[in-house]
Amino acid sequence: MVSNLTGCNKGLPFFLRRIGRGNLAVNNTAMGSRAMDVRFRLNGRPVSVPDVTPTTTLLDWLREEQHLKGTKEGCNEGDCGACTVMVTDGGGAKALNACILLLPQLMGKAVRTVEGISGPDGDLHPVQEMMIEHHGSQCGFCTPGFIVSMAAAHLKGATDYDTELAGNLCRCTGYAPIIRAAEAAAGMPVPAWMREDEKAIRQSMGEPAAASQNRPPYGPVSSDELARVYAANPGATLVAGATDVGLWVTKGLQSPEVMIFLNGCEDLKRIEVGEDRVRFGAMVDMNAMGAVMSDLHPSYGEMIRRYASVQVRGAATVGGNIANGSPIGDNPPALIALGAVLHLRKGDVQRDVLLEDFFVEYGKQDREPGEFIEAVSFARQADYLKCYKLTKRFDQDISAVCGCFYVDVVDGVVASARIAFGGMAGIPKRAKAVEVTLVGQVWDEAVVQAALPAFATDFTPMSDMRASAGYRLETAKAMLLRYYGESQGANGSVLEVSA
Ligand SMILES: Cc1cc2nc3c(=O)[nH]c(=O)nc-3n(C[C@H](O)[C@H](O)[C@H](O)COP(=O)(O)OP(=O)(O)OC[C@H]3O[C@@H](n4cnc5c(N)ncnc54)[C@H](O)[C@@H]3O)c2cc1C
Ligand code: FES
Ligand code: FES
Repeated sequence: MVSNLTGCNKGLPFFLRRIGRGNLAVNNTAMGSRAMDVRFRLNGRPVSVPDVTPTTTLLDWLREEQHLKGTKEGCNEGDCGACTVMVTDGGGAKALNACILLLPQLMGKAVRTVEGISGPDGDLHPVQEMMIEHHGSQCGFCTPGFIVSMAAAHLKGATDYDTELAGNLCRCTGYAPIIRAAEAAAGMPVPAWMREDEKAIRQSMGEPAAASQNRPPYGPVSSDELARVYAANPGATLVAGATDVGLWVTKGLQSPEVMIFLNGCEDLKRIEVGEDRVRFGAMVDMNAMGAVMSDLHPSYGEMIRRYASVQVRGAATVGGNIANGSPIGDNPPALIALGAVLHLRKGDVQRDVLLEDFFVEYGKQDREPGEFIEAVSFARQADYLKCYKLTKRFDQDISAVCGCFYVDVVDGVVASARIAFGGMAGIPKRAKAVEVTLVGQVWDEAVVQAALPAFATDFTPMSDMRASAGYRLETAKAMLLRYYGESQGANGSVLEVSA
């Protein structure tokens, strides 16, 4: 099955094939992790968990220590949503997967499990009532996860259930009754108890001293502090959203010796949309990034909508998606097509590197021990960007090929072209030979057709369980043709059918 791998994912076990690579900084010392104290709110009451082994997942702790068995374990790798919980912090409430959420990531936040979705007096939440009324549950295994996702959507007023519930799998009821239930609950008021976490978090945010007293030893609260801690512990594993790191723990049974949790670094969550440049802090999550990109570059926003699920996007950060060096991560090709710059820092030394130069070869990036990603930025520019994410399944699937195109045509002639791919090489990579054949030429179909053979100069893709090498090469060519067609007004959307 894996014998034909030629680039990314080579020889990796299943859990790592999702992301390509990433465990180089991990030291397998099963009991070596430092213990720490973690405080957060659970179902409306404060809890303090002393001496937490940092690799403890919220799911294991809930089920084994708290005996809250409503949160289910299905896949244990972020795919099924059976373990969905609601987590509230200064940015509001979101649905997350408890199976790949490590306890120290919860410091200072509020968690609501399915047991906390009904009211303190046992009153049902509107989504629970409607699930009963609309027969939204059969065996019931998936139901707690659905209830929490639906309650989180209900709280934020989101009604696009194809998106909101894409991360919850049900094998027996069928989705129609579940969506009917969500729709029926949408018009009903949010119960008062569902607003309590936000209030409590807002109050505690006014107490910075208390917050910092509560933080774990390796839970820096600013990039300055992170720079100091990481420079002193250059072999440590940084944990951002843990959508990769969590899998090393749950599927790889690894336990990094020293872990630094970045979730307290609020300054790394900053998004700056200036007149000239756009800058995303490394800790900006995919949902937040998608919201901004939907305005600036809608095709990028649409690609992020298909990046994993609401739960994974709420945790996964842009810094983690770049730092893991995966050849099949979705942000790098899109950001390379935008000419993005990566902002790195080690101690007090900051440096910038073009994102396309950061990826040196498979498994190797231009990053020193103790150096971390602070942010990624790119110029404000006209929107000529298109991102094409090719997957076997429309929702929640890793790209076989992700092609991102930015072609600037002035007076009918190609002035510049930046074309980048994921899934076509051991690293996210520009199609430079294709670009060269296009630049300076008239932007017409004959020129585009003439550029297609250059893909074979740029790429020698691999065959794996997602796609064969030949298929990858052909789809890359088809994507350029699609980009050209769309630039001429053709409808390239696979969601619209016209007679
Ligand atoms: C169910 C599921 C579906 C997924 N679907 C997709 C998908 O469709 N597209 C896609 O691209 N990816 C997908 N992924 C992979 C994953 O979500 C991304 O790679 C994610 O962006 C990683 O970010 P994170 O914050 O979770 O990183 P983490 O897991 O916390 O860290 C990943 C790596 O980056 C390092 N790191 C994190 N932050 C920094 C920093 N600031 N500086 C330096 N190093 C850092 C960590 O030490 C680690 O080595 C999926 C994952 C899951 C579990
Ligand atoms: S158990 Fe499947 S997403 Fe957590
Ligand atoms: S009701 Fe059985 S899996 Fe959904």
